[in-house]
Amino acid sequence: MLSDPIDGGVIKSNPDLKVVANYAVGYNNIDVEAATRQGVAVTNTPGVLTEATADLTWALLMAVARRIIESDQFVRQGQFKGWGPRLMLGSDVYGKTLGIIGFGRIGQAVARRARGFNMEILYNKRTRLSRDREEKLGVQYAEVDELLKRADYISINAPLNKSTYHLVGLQEFELMKNTAIVINTGRGPIIDESALVEALKEGKIAGAGLDVYEEEPEVHPGLMELDNVVLTPHTGSGTIETRDKMAVMVAEDVIAVLKGKRPANLVNPGVYKN
Ligand code: GLV
Ligand code: GLV
Repeated sequence: MLSDPIDGGVIKSNPDLKVVANYAVGYNNIDVEAATRQGVAVTNTPGVLTEATADLTWALLMAVARRIIESDQFVRQGQFKGWGPRLMLGSDVYGKTLGIIGFGRIGQAVARRARGFNMEILYNKRTRLSRDREEKLGVQYAEVDELLKRADYISINAPLNKSTYHLVGLQEFELMKNTAIVINTGRGPIIDESALVEALKEGKIAGAGLDVYEEEPEVHPGLMELDNVVLTPHTGSGTIETRDKMAVMVAEDVIAVLKGKRPANLVNPGVYKN
């Protein structure tokens, strides 16, 4: 599971280990270098969870923008006493600017949905896409700072690694619009969570939708107190269909390795070089 840290110590402790098959697409919980050195194959579950994770990203975006959780509580608590011109006002989504940080499969699936909302779509990725591909997807490349300044909605869909750890901290929140809404369905530590709480409390940004946290399953107590935050328990890929596909993928990769075959979703091809 992505919640199991498979570090060098764990890998070393079993000299017969052949494969670590992660039930997740992100594999920051695994010391891949140590695995490769010991000849252990590492696999993950790319592709099958792309659309489900993009759906949850959008569910959070819409929930924060239109205050769905607050509204539901309001109605259930019997506070709905009649239609009001200023009741529970949220923010427009249609026609706004979306900035996507991390533009792999999931980021691109988030962008595809955004086109239906007639959004201007900015993206940042370590290696820029070809102009052709950008045109096909209807997206524009932007440096992170520019993206943060221009976006009304910021979606984090990057993997966690050394270059994305605390990519969004105090300085970055300063750059954002005070009406910005930040969504994170990538990995918690990409955002400095204390800085996020401060930014939300001080009104530097308008809201956040989070599926992942810095110290899962702990959630910063500051987040729990805020109405303009929607929290889900790391369920980006959490649909029946998707979790079934992930399970089959993991099983097939394990079986492949044990049969001496190369698994389909190998993270460390270097392991088969020697
Ligand atoms: C979930 O977070 C995954 O990486 O699959
Ligand atoms: C709202 O319900 C409207 O009819 O404008």
